[in-house]
Amino acid sequence: ILEILLKGLHRLEYRGYDSSGVGIDGGNGKDWETNAKSIQLIKQRGKVKALDEEIDSKPKQQDVDLDVEFDVHLGIAHTRWATHGVPSAVNSHPQRSDKNNEFIVIHNGIITNYKDLRKFLESKDYEFESETDTETIAKLVKYMFDNRENDDISFATLVEQTTRLLEGAFALVFKSVHYPGEAVGTRRGSPLLMGVRSDHKLSSDHIPVLYSSGKLQLQFLIIDSYVRLQKSTKDKKGCGAIARMEQDTCLFPVDEKAVEYYFASDASAVIEHTNRVIFLEDDDVAAVREGRLSIHRIKRTAGDYPARAIQTLQMELQQIMKGNFSSFMQKEIFEQPESVVNTMRGRINFDNNTVILGGLKDHIKEIQRCRRLILIACGTSYHAGVATRQVLEELTELPVMVELASDFLDRNTPVFRDDVCFFISQSGETADSLMALHYCKERGALTVGITNTVGSSISRETDCGVHINAGPEIGVASTKAYTSQFVALIMFALLMCDDRISVQPRRREIIQGLRVLPDLIKEVLSLDDEIQKLATELYQQKSVLIMGRGYHYATCLEGALKIKEITYMHSEGILAGELKHGPLALVDKLMPVIMIIMRDHTYVKCQNALQQIVARQGRPIVICDKDDFETAKNSSRTINVPHCVDCLQGVLSVIPLQLLSFHLAVLRGYDVDCPRNLAKSVTVE
Ligand code: F6R
Repeated sequence: ILEILLKGLHRLEYRGYDSSGVGIDGGNGKDWETNAKSIQLIKQRGKVKALDEEIDSKPKQQDVDLDVEFDVHLGIAHTRWATHGVPSAVNSHPQRSDKNNEFIVIHNGIITNYKDLRKFLESKDYEFESETDTETIAKLVKYMFDNRENDDISFATLVEQTTRLLEGAFALVFKSVHYPGEAVGTRRGSPLLMGVRSDHKLSSDHIPVLYSSGKLQLQFLIIDSYVRLQKSTKDKKGCGAIARMEQDTCLFPVDEKAVEYYFASDASAVIEHTNRVIFLEDDDVAAVREGRLSIHRIKRTAGDYPARAIQTLQMELQQIMKGNFSSFMQKEIFEQPESVVNTMRGRINFDNNTVILGGLKDHIKEIQRCRRLILIACGTSYHAGVATRQVLEELTELPVMVELASDFLDRNTPVFRDDVCFFISQSGETADSLMALHYCKERGALTVGITNTVGSSISRETDCGVHINAGPEIGVASTKAYTSQFVALIMFALLMCDDRISVQPRRREIIQGLRVLPDLIKEVLSLDDEIQKLATELYQQKSVLIMGRGYHYATCLEGALKIKEITYMHSEGILAGELKHGPLALVDKLMPVIMIIMRDHTYVKCQNALQQIVARQGRPIVICDKDDFETAKNSSRTINVPHCVDCLQGVLSVIPLQLLSFHLAVLRGYDVDCPRNLAKSVTVE
């Protein structure tokens, strides 16, 4: 179990990685029940590798056989990305209730009222050792236990009582010496799923949920956590058909064979063990006990299903492995010819120029009648909105706003019932985007998700949406998700105007452009060696400016973001039309400048910008069309990409910058997949 936990942490490491820890049964006896009456915690600052090393060194130090030392029945583990408190062993999870580790908890998210709770608990003589908000939860559950009215209180009820007092966002999993062999998980706002593995038939493929009464306030937040539980095959209790257990219905095998349950924040941690998962909903409390799983709800909410289905995921393990590539980012860049095909698969008929998006089918008429489209996202996903805004405006003839989720909320932006709000998010869990989604829903707007993660909060909470189907993206720097978001938004634009006769020639042109796009991406990827060479010339620079306009402004922003986040060089995406209004002052013969100049309606204006750079002794490197000799004359170097329909050209122009940032980071000696201070899913505000 310990090995599986550590492997799971490695798979989740891309989500955050400044420290990690495990909590396992601590006894060293002959049977698991005795072992489970104590808990051992092992925590380390740094990457999961540091935790591996610490664990490896343990049996040696103590001269104990590994199998005996770690004969555990249940364990929980966590990889942390610091929000409260610096990265350190004491601040990493699991956090504990007391020196005897009576209760331990792992947590993703932020508890916004933790200061008040901590003050209260300190007044009751609970001693705190870390700076985390999570420790408050561990102490609080112990407080509830110490002050329980009923000696037989179940672990699930205790957790429910505790979470009622928490404000903020969380996904949590608890373990306790008072409840050997049991684990309880719950969530509000942060993803948490359960993997179920059994070689035998389960009693049901749905698990009914039971509602408990009582009030609960609030919503919201995270977990890079991973739990595995194994029912002992020797334990015959509780096997049979669906039964009542503490008033909850539960799931377990119909025969007397083992079933394993996993809690995880992300399917990538469990996929090598099982592809059967249950996505928990906000306020679900899932308890695993004696091989049985029960789920009950703290409260019933509108649109709630009274059962949780066991879904079968299509994700394959090799999809989340690096293969022959040196990093996930590199693999994901090179996957783009296939990932864009997967985005379009079954949705475009290139022979009769039709587009079908099943996820929008029931709402498309309503969307066509709307007054305005608002695209809301963060980071790279925001850039996908910027990249497609123009074609959306052109094909829908609607005003299109593109908004950074945090700023959109800061401004209390007016939103109306006849607005359609899009939430673009690779993870589907970004806290700012999720909050903006709640904000728009409250105002009655129709909400549409453009996500890459089936079962994510955004895909579940929006009225309708499009899965981009790019496959799991593990590298922190987003690449293939961007091009797939781009293509998904283009398909939406095409769908919006499928019955307008006047735009049919343009629609056909774009659809045929999409048909050849995967091959053109392959052609751009073949420039890799050339770009690597360019990187060797640039990698010692401090700064890179990237300029362009029109369809390529988004490429500038996205290229600069890629360079910043993985090479730690300063980089700025500049709208070429703004050059004279300030940025030109940065240009001299030493400043590296990359320009994007394509043969579209901004070509002449881009030539002017090029002249202005050259006149200041700048030596621009230009990404341009293959046969553009005019541009080549004024450039110090060109990167020639194939030509395609103007509004799709941004898919091609961004790839050289993805490759460049990758090579720069490698040459500068940085870990491409795990840039410092960043996490893949930003589930905190
Ligand atoms: C940059 C990057 C981030 C994300 C942003 C939003 O390479 O990956 O800027 O795009 O954090 O994340 P999602 O798309 O998951 O909402």
